[in-house]
This record gives sequence, C-alpha cells and structure tokens, in this order.
Amino acid sequence: MKRLLSIALAGLLMGGMVVAEEKLSMSAQDRALYEEMLENNPADIFVEEGAEHLEELGGEEALAKFLEIDEEELPKYLAGFPRYIPKIGMVVAIDQMLQAFMYDRGKQPYPLKSAEMDGFAAYVKSLANGEKINIDVNANEAMQAAYRLGEEVFKMRRGKRGLSCDSCHSKDVVGLRLRMQILPDLGDPKVKAAATWPAYRMTKGKMFTLQKRFQQCMKNALLAQIPLGSPQMVALEVYVTNMAKGQEIQIPGLKR
Ligand code: HEC
Repeated sequence: MKRLLSIALAGLLMGGMVVAEEKLSMSAQDRALYEEMLENNPADIFVEEGAEHLEELGGEEALAKFLEIDEEELPKYLAGFPRYIPKIGMVVAIDQMLQAFMYDRGKQPYPLKSAEMDGFAAYVKSLANGEKINIDVNANEAMQAAYRLGEEVFKMRRGKRGLSCDSCHSKDVVGLRLRMQILPDLGDPKVKAAATWPAYRMTKGKMFTLQKRFQQCMKNALLAQIPLGSPQMVALEVYVTNMAKGQEIQIPGLKR
C-alpha cells in the first residue's frame, strides 16, 4: 500500500481488496455492454429533449444574446464554465446560467435537480463538443475565490469516516481499488471527468450532471451532501474542471 494513504482511507480500503491495477474496473460482460452503448448512448434522447428546450427559448441566437457574446463564440464560451457572469453576479455552472436565461425569457426555470435541467444543461454543454475545456480560474477575483474555496472543499475531511475527496482522488491513491472500483484520477485524460459530464451512468440507468456525480461520491463516503448550485458546490466544480483543462469536451459521456 502506498505510504501516504490517509489512516481513514486505509481503514476503509482494508474492508475491500486493494490492488494497484491499470485495467478498467469492469467485467467482460460490462465491457461488452459499454462498447455497445458507446455506439448508442441512452442519454442521447435526454440531450435531444434539451435541444427542444433551447429552441423554445429562441435557440442559440437568444442564448448568445443573453450572454452578450457573438453566436459564433458560443461553443468556446461554453467550454469555459463555471464562469463569473457579471449580470448574474456570481460564478455559475451551465445549469444555473440556464436558470437565469429562462428567467430572462419569462419562463419558470427548471429546478437544478430536475431531469429537464439535466437534459437542457447537457445539450447546451454539447454545443461545445470538440472544444477544449478553457476554464480560467484567474479570470477575475470571483473565479480566484471560487477556485480557492473549491480546493478547500475538495480537501476538507468530513463525515463519520473523516474522508475528503482528496482521500480517494489524490495522486497518492488513484489507481488503487476500493470495493472493486478503481479510484479515478480526475485530471487523467483517459477519465476525462469534467469533459464528459453530464454523462449516463450504466449502473444507475440515468444521466447525471457533474455536481450530481459529486453528490453520489459524498453519499458513498458518508459525507453530508452539499446542495446543487451552492457556492461550495460550484467551487468544487471549478476546482475539478480545472484539473481537466485542455481536455476535449464530449457530451454526453458514458460511465460505469
Ligand atoms: C471513498 C472514496 C471516495 C471519496 C471520498 C470520493 N470519491 Fe469520487 N469516486 C470514487 C470512486 C471509487 C469512483 C469511481 C466509481 C466508478 O467507477 O463507478 C469515483 C468517481 C468520481 C467521479 C467520476 C469520474 C469519472 O468517471 O468521470 C467524480 C467526478 C468524483 N468521483 C468526484 C469526487 C468528489 C468531488 C469527491 C468529494 C466530494 C469524491 N469524489 C469523493 C471514490 C471516492
């Protein structure tokens, strides 16, 4: 076992089997299913619904206007979220930006936890497919503060077991297995964490945003779930997205 494993995590890992291994943590059958689903991601249907939501609100032209940018700049701009948006007055991920957009268009915003919002956010982020993540955590003071807060939240030990995100996703432990699952390096270009969410999770039969994926890890690790869209949660998204800076966006992702 690696030397720097935290005591808390070491305890947790001892319950399961720990082996450092490079292979994907999937059985041969799961692997075959994964390959098949890659051809036809079940999340595509939700993303298509998202396209309809945008159309109803005036399409890409209206969205670009709301964001005060040229329509051609939209993909690159979307590849830089979470961002500080002056007219919203805070750092927001795409879903909260879309809530503000809906409000601006006179429509009742979809709740962050709704499936409608997941589809809408996935479609809008997919407009940046092929672009590289270009988040700028030094763009302004608000982004710098969000990055610092995100790092703090990522490293904060909480819950009964005193675990942090870093306990399972730091360079010291990634690649080890916890209950059969490889602990993924969130900055690894093969994992493409921030570049592929919203993604469809085969084990759950649903699509989730990155923040919802964070909540699943919190639940599994017995950490109280941080609310979607809260400053801490958005900051966490800033921090984790910055790890994947330069990676190509591919929405919707497909995950175990
Ligand atoms: C107890 C260990 C543990 C803790 C603590 C933990 N995670 Fe995870 N996390 C995992 C494992 C294991 C997986 C991979 C699960 C799988 O493959 O199904 C994972 C997957 C993820 C993914 C998806 C990566 C991908 O495939 O794109 C993200 C994002 C993530 N974690 C973020 C976080 C954040 C943020 C925190 C802190 C709130 C956190 N995790 C805390 C164990 C942990």
